[in-house]
Amino acid sequence: MKTLTSTGSSIRQYPSPCLLFDRQKITCAADVLKSLTHKYNCRFLMAAKALRSKTVYQILNHRLNGFDVSNFNEYNILPDVLDKKTIWFTNPILDSISFNDLTRKFNDLIVSIETLTQGLMIIKQNRRVCLALRLSTRPLEKNNKQARHSRFGILPDEIKNFGTLKQSILGLHIHKGTFDGSEINTVHDYLKMAEYALEITKTHKIKMKILNLGGGLHHLARQDLDTLLYKLRLMINPQTLIYFEPGQYFFKDAGFAAGQVMSIKKQREIIVTLNLSGSCHLKWSQPRYCSLAINKGKKTARVVFCGPTCYESDRLGEFAIPLTDVHKLKTGSVVMFSNISGYSASWNSGFNGILPAKLLFQKTMRSLHHM
Ligand SMILES: Cc1ncc(COP(=O)(O)O)c(C=O)c1O
Repeated sequence: MKTLTSTGSSIRQYPSPCLLFDRQKITCAADVLKSLTHKYNCRFLMAAKALRSKTVYQILNHRLNGFDVSNFNEYNILPDVLDKKTIWFTNPILDSISFNDLTRKFNDLIVSIETLTQGLMIIKQNRRVCLALRLSTRPLEKNNKQARHSRFGILPDEIKNFGTLKQSILGLHIHKGTFDGSEINTVHDYLKMAEYALEITKTHKIKMKILNLGGGLHHLARQDLDTLLYKLRLMINPQTLIYFEPGQYFFKDAGFAAGQVMSIKKQREIIVTLNLSGSCHLKWSQPRYCSLAINKGKKTARVVFCGPTCYESDRLGEFAIPLTDVHKLKTGSVVMFSNISGYSASWNSGFNGILPAKLLFQKTMRSLHHM
C-alpha cells in the first residue's frame, strides 16, 4: 500500500532517517505575518535558531523584515544581501563581539543588552548600533511560585545603574521562554508583557521607539494574532515599532520525519526500533504517528517506537496503531511521523555511531493520516 505525497512519490522513497518540511506551509505562515506588517505597523523577524537552513532563510527573507540571530555562525549562513532588513542580535555572551562585522550584509542592526558592561562595550565600538534593553520576565511570574526563573534579561532594580547610557537605548525586548523550547504565550501574556514594558519606560525614562515581544506565536490562532495586534496598537504609541521574533510558528504542521524499521520485538507491547532517533533527530518534537492505511479498521495495537541508540530513553513514543498497519510493519518498511518541530532540524545530531538525519524540503506534503 502506498501513501502518496503531492509529487506522487511513495514515502518509501524518502531516504531515512530524514526530517521533511513542507515549503508551502512555511510560505503560507510567513505570508500571514507579511499581511499584518503594514496593517499594524509591526515587524516580524525569524528566530534563526528555529530551523538552521539556507532554504528556509531564503523563503523568509522575501517575506519578513529580518532575523533574530545570536552569533556570527547564524549571521553568516543568512542570505548574502539583507538589504534594509533588520538583524536583531541577542546573545548572553555579547562581551567579545565585533559589531562592525554584523552590518556587512547591508542590514540594520539592533542589539539587545542586559548589562551596563555590554552597553558600554558596544557604544565604544560603534556609536551607530541601536541598543535595546532585554527585560527579565521574572517580575511577571511573581505570583507563580513554581516557576523556574529565566536567567536572561535585566531586573527593574538594575536599570538605574545605566546612568547616561539610558539615553542611547531605543527600546525594550522581552521574550517569554520556557525550559524545553515550548513557549506557551496567550494574547493575555503578550498584553501583560507590553504593559510591563510601558511601565518600565515611564519609571526609568527610557525611550520606546521599538518594542520586541519575542517569539511564541505558534500557540496563537490566526484570529488571536489579529486580536493581539489590534489590542497592542490601542495600548502603544503608534510611532513605536512593535517587533516579534517567532521561530516555531513557521513550522507548525509543516514538519515530518521518516524512519525505517530496523527490528521488531513482541513483548507486552510491540517494540519497533527505527533508524530514526528520538534523542538525536527529534529534540523538542512530540511526534505523531502517520498511518499508512487509507481504510483503517477500528482495531489497534500498542506500538512503542524507539530510536537506534543504546540510550534507554531514545524513544519516539507509544502509539495506538491500526492493526492494518501493524500487520504491514516489517524490517525495511518506512514509518512517518508528523508534528516535527523546526528546532529538531537545528538540534539534529549524531550519537553512539548514529548519524544526523537528512534534512529535506518538499514542495507540499499531502495524504498523510495523522493518528
Ligand atoms: C530570544 C528568543 N526569541 C525568539 C525565540 C523563538 O521562540 P519560538 O520558537 O517559541 O517562537 C527564542 C527561542 O528560543 C528566543 O530565545
